[in-house]
Amino acid sequence: MDTTQNIQWFPGHMTKTRRKITEILPLIDAVAEVLDARIPLSSQNPDLPDIIGNKPRIILLNKCDMADGAVTEKWISYFKSKGITAIAVDCKSGKGLNNFKTTVKELLGDKLEIYRSKGMVGKPLRVMVVGIPNVGKSSFINRIAGVGKAKVENRPGVTRGNQWFTIDKELELLDTPGVLWPKFEDVTVGEHLAFTGAVNDRVIDVELLAVRLLEILCVQYKDLLVARYGELDFDDEPYEILGQIGRKRGMVMRGGEIDTVRASNMLLEEYRNLKIGKISLERIENA
Ligand code: G4P
Repeated sequence: MDTTQNIQWFPGHMTKTRRKITEILPLIDAVAEVLDARIPLSSQNPDLPDIIGNKPRIILLNKCDMADGAVTEKWISYFKSKGITAIAVDCKSGKGLNNFKTTVKELLGDKLEIYRSKGMVGKPLRVMVVGIPNVGKSSFINRIAGVGKAKVENRPGVTRGNQWFTIDKELELLDTPGVLWPKFEDVTVGEHLAFTGAVNDRVIDVELLAVRLLEILCVQYKDLLVARYGELDFDDEPYEILGQIGRKRGMVMRGGEIDTVRASNMLLEEYRNLKIGKISLERIENA
């Protein structure tokens, strides 16, 4: 399903999702929260910690193949300092997923011990996978379950329609019941989601978006911009730098004016397709 098309903020949706998650929480041992490693703050659902209370949480910093590795490491340490285990994963290739099961078992060691002491050996750990649309939840489940091997079923006593996946004898995953939305009302969050293509940029002025992206890139990733577009005069304002890039790419209209709309679309496209490089747009300093 293409969730990028018409994402809109309906508070009613969150209420419904909150209710569904709260209902199912007693059956769950832990929550795996999938975030976009490039924008771990903007890809969060701000209500999640409140909804899941003290249920153990693992953060999957997904799409780490597109993020700046050094920054991702800092996020992992940052979450650790908050008592949350985070691991970097790439659900497209499967990189990092080997660590997932080990991490779940480590996190739930006490619970496993209790199961064992009660003779409940073999009771699988149940983990609910949550995350905003497009963050990679389906990719994660498909990868870890193995294509075609995922067993989807409705469990007795549980709201119909919840999708469970049996990974092996020790682990079962539950797909997000409902939709968790990001914090759309925050302009920066909306922009960051649009940079990564998680929401449709047609609703946002493309030039403004490209300029905002350049503002970030010109602080942290000048070298990558130069490697991609050649020498640039960084003393200029970001809009002028967009013009410089457009000119270098021959995006000049009749009369000599730079086609900054075309240049904007190109910049955004090249960012999303990793042409500029592995780039993280949010750092722990922003947290
Ligand atoms: P969702 O269930 O949370 O809505 O997300 P989904 O798995 O559908 O993933 C959304 C998009 O992100 C997909 O791309 C998917 O391939 C891509 N993706 C997921 N995880 C990763 C990752 O770790 N690295 C990279 N590079 N991409 C990832 P798409 O363009 O919608 O589809 P397609 O290109 O796979 O056909």
